[in-house]
Amino acid sequence: MAKESLSITDNRTGKQYEIPIKHGSIHATDLRQIRTGPDDFGLLSYDPAFMNTAACTSRITYIDGDKGILHYRGYPIEQLAEKSTYLEVAYLLIYGKLPTKSELDRWLHDITYHTMVHENIKKFLDGYRYDAHPMGILIGTVAALSTFYPDAHNIFDQRSREIQICRLIAKMPTLAAMSFRHSVGQPYPLPDNDLSYTENFLNLMWKATEVKYAANPILAKALDVLFILHADHEQNCSTTAMRCVGSSHSDPYSAVAAASAALYGPLHGGANEAVLTMLKEIGSKDRIPEFIKSVKEGHGKLMGFGHRVYKNYDPRAKIIKRMADQVFEVTGRNPLLDIALELERIALSDDYFVSRKLYPNVDFYSGLIYQAMRFPTTMFTVLFAIPRTSGWIAQWLEMLGDEEQKIARPRQIYLGEQKRDYVPIEQRR
Ligand code: SDX
Repeated sequence: MAKESLSITDNRTGKQYEIPIKHGSIHATDLRQIRTGPDDFGLLSYDPAFMNTAACTSRITYIDGDKGILHYRGYPIEQLAEKSTYLEVAYLLIYGKLPTKSELDRWLHDITYHTMVHENIKKFLDGYRYDAHPMGILIGTVAALSTFYPDAHNIFDQRSREIQICRLIAKMPTLAAMSFRHSVGQPYPLPDNDLSYTENFLNLMWKATEVKYAANPILAKALDVLFILHADHEQNCSTTAMRCVGSSHSDPYSAVAAASAALYGPLHGGANEAVLTMLKEIGSKDRIPEFIKSVKEGHGKLMGFGHRVYKNYDPRAKIIKRMADQVFEVTGRNPLLDIALELERIALSDDYFVSRKLYPNVDFYSGLIYQAMRFPTTMFTVLFAIPRTSGWIAQWLEMLGDEEQKIARPRQIYLGEQKRDYVPIEQRR
C-alpha cells in the first residue's frame, strides 16, 4: 500500500523528512521543521495570489475546472437552476440542506419582512453625487448597516447571527435598488410583501406612479435563475475577502462590504460591466478580427473569458446563454448578442485562447441579459453582489465554525533593505 506522504531531502543539510499527504495536500506548517540550523525560521511555501494554495477546507461549493462542474452542497447547478429558487438555494448554501416546506415558509417570511431599511439611509444616500457608481454606494451603505445593528458584533450569538443573516439577504436588493434610484433622481419605493424576492427587487427598481408594481413573470424568473447561478463559487476573490475580514471577528455587514469591494474589480465581478463596454467598443462583427488581434498583442483582455479554475466552458455561462433567448422573447433581441456569439466562435477557434484554456465565464453573457432587462451597465456588478451575499454568508459561517481557522495573517519573504541608520536631511543625496 503506497504511503500517503512526501519524502523530502533537504540538499542543504542532507536531512530527510516525511511529510504526510491528506486530501491531496500537505500542511504548509509541516514545512517549518525543514531548517538549516537553530536560527532558521523553517521552510515557507511561497504562493502569490494563492495559485496553488488551499486556505480552508469547505463543504459548500464544489467546482471541477477541467470538467466544467459546479455543485452547491452536492446539488448540480443545472438542477438547481431548473428546479429551485434563489431563496431556497440561499437556505441550502447557508444551512447545508434543502429546506422542508415549513422551513422554507419561515425563511421566506423572515426575508420578506426585513426588506425595509432605516429611513436615515436615505439621508446619507443624498450625500453621494447624482452620478455616483451604484457599486460604490452599495459598499458604503451595506457597511453602514453595521452601525444600525450594533448587536451584529455578537458574532457567536446564534440568535444575533440569524437576524443579521436575514437582514443582509433581505436588504441587499433594497440598498441596490436605492443606489440606482438615487442615480436617476427618483423616489425610493417601499418593498411590497406580496411579491417574490426578485419581483420585489424589480418593484424597488422600476415602480413609478402605478398603485402596485407588476413584474413580468418571465423576467422575474430569469433574474431568479441568474441569482441562483451567482450565489456562490467557492474561494473566489470576494469570498476570500469575506473570510479574511471575518477572521478578525468583524461584524458580517463590514465583511460583506469588504467582499463587495473585492467583487467591484473588473477582473472579478466587474467583468460583466466590462464585457458590455467591450462589445460596444467593438461595435460590429466585422471589427472582431481587429479586436482579437489587439488582445493577442497584449492590448487588453477579452473580458468575460478565462477563469482561474475553469479550464473548460463555465457551466453557468452555458445556462445563461440558453436563458438569453427566453428573455429576448420578452425584451427584444439585444443586438450586441450577435457580436458576442461571433466573438465566442472566433475565440474558441483561435489557438491563443484555446492553448490558454480561455472559455466564456459567467460574465460573458449575463450583461447582455441585464442590458435587455433595462438595467444600466453600472448596475451589473450590483446584480452580482445581491445573490453572492448568501454565498459570502455561508462561507463566513463555515470559517467561524472551523476549529482550524484563526485570524488570517500570511507570512512574507522579505527582500528589502537590511538594517541601516537614519540619515539627517542635510546629508542626503
Ligand atoms: C469571476 O474566481 C471565481 O470563481 C470568480 C467568479 C465567481 O463566480 O466568483 O467565477 C466570477 O470573476 C469570473 C471572471 C471574470 N473576469 C473576467 O472575465 C476578466 C477577464 N479574465 C481574466 O482577467 C482572467 O482570465 C481571470 C482574472 C479571470 C483569471 O486570471 P488568472 O487565472 O490569473 O490567469 P492569468 O491572468 O494568469 O492568465 C493566464 C494567461 C495569460 O497569458 P500569458 O501571460 O500566459 O501569455 O491567459 C491570458 C493571460 O494574459 N488571459 C487572457 C484572458 N484571461 C487570461 N488573455 C486575454 N483575455 C482574457 N480574458
